[in-house]
Amino acid sequence: MKSLMDKCCEKCFHSPASPCKDYIKCRRQGPLCHEDESCRAKYKAFLEDIHLPEDSSRRQILICAGTGCTSSGSRKLVDALVEELQKQGLQDRVSVKITGCHGFCEQGPLMIVEPQKIFYTRVQVEDIPEIVAGHLVGGQVVERLLYVDPATGEKSLTYETVPFYAKQKRLVLANCGHINPEEIADYVANDGYLALTKALFEMTPEQVIEEVKISGLRGRGGAGFPTGMKWSFVRAAEGDKKYVVCNADEGDPGAFMDRSVLEGDPHAVLEGMLICGYAVGADEGYIYVRAEYPLAIHRLKIAIAQAEECGLIGDNILNSGFNFHIKIKAGAGAFVCGEETALLTSIEGNRGMPRPRPPFPAQKGLWGKPTNINNVETFANVPLIIRNGGAWYAAMGTEKSKGTKIFALTGKVNNTGLVEVPMGITMREIIFGVGGGIRDGKKFKAVQIGGPSGGCLPEEQLDLPIDYESLTSAGAIMGSGGLVVMDETTCMVDVARFFLNFTQAESCGKCTPCREGTKRMLEILTRICEGQGKEEDIETLERLARVVKSTALCGLGQTCPNPILSTLRYFRDEYEAHIRDKRCPARVCQALLVYTINAEKCTGCGSCARACPAGAISGEKKQPHVIDISRCIKCGNCMQKCKFGAVEKA
Ligand SMILES: Cc1cc2nc3c(=O)[nH]c(=O)nc-3n(C[C@H](O)[C@H](O)[C@H](O)COP(=O)(O)O)c2cc1C
Ligand code: SF4
Ligand code: SF4
Ligand code: SF4
Ligand code: FES
Repeated sequence: MKSLMDKCCEKCFHSPASPCKDYIKCRRQGPLCHEDESCRAKYKAFLEDIHLPEDSSRRQILICAGTGCTSSGSRKLVDALVEELQKQGLQDRVSVKITGCHGFCEQGPLMIVEPQKIFYTRVQVEDIPEIVAGHLVGGQVVERLLYVDPATGEKSLTYETVPFYAKQKRLVLANCGHINPEEIADYVANDGYLALTKALFEMTPEQVIEEVKISGLRGRGGAGFPTGMKWSFVRAAEGDKKYVVCNADEGDPGAFMDRSVLEGDPHAVLEGMLICGYAVGADEGYIYVRAEYPLAIHRLKIAIAQAEECGLIGDNILNSGFNFHIKIKAGAGAFVCGEETALLTSIEGNRGMPRPRPPFPAQKGLWGKPTNINNVETFANVPLIIRNGGAWYAAMGTEKSKGTKIFALTGKVNNTGLVEVPMGITMREIIFGVGGGIRDGKKFKAVQIGGPSGGCLPEEQLDLPIDYESLTSAGAIMGSGGLVVMDETTCMVDVARFFLNFTQAESCGKCTPCREGTKRMLEILTRICEGQGKEEDIETLERLARVVKSTALCGLGQTCPNPILSTLRYFRDEYEAHIRDKRCPARVCQALLVYTINAEKCTGCGSCARACPAGAISGEKKQPHVIDISRCIKCGNCMQKCKFGAVEKA
C-alpha cells in the first residue's frame, strides 16, 4: 500500500472494474467493509502524514509551485531542500511537498513549515542551509525571511497572521497552497470527493439542483447567471446526449483566478463538473483551457488520470450507475473564445466566433446538444455547497450575491495577488484592508473592476458593497474578478483608451457595431490623448458607446464601452481638460506635457542636454539650462537623467 487511495489488503474489492460506493469514506475512516486494526492503522498513518498533528515531531515543508513561484525558482528550492535534508540525515523526519499558488506571488517563492505554519517569503536556494540547520535542527525561526508588513513594519510569524490572508475568507482557495495538487490523496484527505459521494448516494439529480438553487450561487465567469437555474434548464432540455463544459479560457489581462484554482486544486473543479453531470444528465465533459496555461493543463491531466485510476471518473462511478468522462481542449488564446458560444464553436474545431442566442447552449450547445457551461470558479464552489448545504452558502454575502468571490488584486496597491473575500465586502476593505493601501503613500484615484470591459469607480464609491447589482448600478461589472487599483498618477482618459485598445484588437469582427464602433471610439480617445480632441468628441463617444452596447452581438461588444462610460461619468473633467485646455491633469499623456527646467534647481551639469535626442536643451556650463519647447519631442529623457530634480513637467 503506497498511498491512501490504495487497497489496505486483499479484502478491499474497490477498483474501477468492481467499484465500491464507500470508497471515499473508507479512505478517511476505514476500512468500512471489514474489521482489521492493521488496515485501520495504515489509513490513519497516511492521513496523519498529510495532516501533521500540532504536537508532531515531524515537519512538513510546503513549497509553492504555482506559475509565479516556479518562475522565481521554487523548483530549485525543492531540489536544494531535499539534498540538504539528506545531508543532515533528516529525510525521514521532514517531508517536502509542492503546492499550488498561495495568491501572494509577489512575495514568492513562498514556503510554509508545518505543523507550526511558519511562513517564509522570497526564499532563495542560498537560504536553505540556514532553514534546515537553524530552524529544523536548531528550532530558531529564520527571522529575515518572515513577511514584513510595509504599512506597520511588523513581522508575521505564521501564515494566518499575515494581514493579506487574515482579512480574506478562503473557501474556494482553501486547498490552494496547502495540498499537493498532483496527489489525489491530499484532496481526499481534505474532504475531497465527499460531495460527489453524497450527491450520488443521498440525493436525486433534482435535489442537487435544488441545493445549488438554495445556495444562490451565480456564475463566476462574468454575467452572474444563477447556476442552479442554468442546471435546471439543461436537465429539462430534450436530448439523448448532453455535455458539461468548463470555461477556463480566462482571457482578461492580469487575471489568474481560474489558473490558480486549476493549478492548486484541480480535483475541486473535476468534482464540481462530475456533480453537475449527474444533476443535468450528462455523461461527457470538456475543459476548455488556454494553451498559455501549460502548468494548469499538466496538473489537470494528472488529476484526470488519477481520478480515472480511482474510479471517480469513468463508467459506473462508485457503483452508482453514473458514467462521466472528461477531456481537455486547449484554446489558442483569443479573448472572444471565452464567450460561451464562441468557445463551443472552437471545441467543435471551427474558428471561435460567437453565435446569436437563442438558442442558448442549454438547449443547443456543443454539436447541437444541450450543454451546461460554467466557469472554473463556479464549478469549484459546487463541492462546498453540496457538502455543507445550500443554506450554509447562502448565509454568506448579500441578498442577491452569495458566497465568496476571488479577485486578482493588482495595480498601485501594497499587497497585490489573488484574494478571496465574502460578497458584500466593500471596495475599501479590499484595497486598504487586504491590499494594505496605496503604494508609496500616494492618493487613491480609482479602481477598475471587471476586466477590460469593467468600469472605473472613484473614491466616492469606495464603500460600495461588492455584489452584482451594486456594481452594475455604479457603472461597473463583477466580470470574472479583475481589480486594478489606480493612484493619483493615472490618467483616466488614457485608462479608457488602454482598455478599448485591448477590446478593439480582440473584437472578432463578426458584427458591425463592435467591429466599426470600437475602431471609431478608439480613434477618438487616441485623438483626445494626443491633444487633438474636439469639443463634440465627448458627445460622440457617449452616443457611440450606447449604440455599441445595445446592438453588438456578443458580450464583448455589449460591455466594451464600460471603461469609457464610467470614466465619462466620474472623471468627465479630465476629458474636458484634455480637449479644452490641452492639458493632462495626471501628467501622463505625453503629447500634452510641457517640459521645463527649474532654474533654481539646475546646476548646469549638462546631463540633460547630452541625453536630449532633439537638441532642444541649451545652456552654459554651470549655468541654468533651458528647453526650447518648439523642438522638444517630449521623450522624457531629460527628466530621467537630471539628478537634481530640476526638470519639471506640467
Ligand atoms: C468576450 C467574453 C469573454 C468571456 N470570457 C470568459 C472566460 O474567460 N471565462 C469564463 O468563465 N467566462 C467567460 N465569459 C462568459 C461566458 O460567456 C459564460 O457566460 C460563462 O462561461 C458561463 O459560466 P458561469 O455561468 O459559471 O459564469 C466571457 C464572455 C465574453 C462576452
Ligand atoms: S460583439 Fe464584437 S466580438 Fe462579439 S460577435 Fe460582434 S464583433 Fe465579434
Ligand atoms: S541635468 Fe538637471 S541640473 Fe543638469 S543641466 Fe539638466 S536640468 Fe540642469
Ligand atoms: S523631453 Fe526629450 S526632447 Fe524634450 S527636452 Fe527633454 S530630452 Fe529633449
Ligand atoms: S505562485 Fe506562489 S504564491 Fe502564487
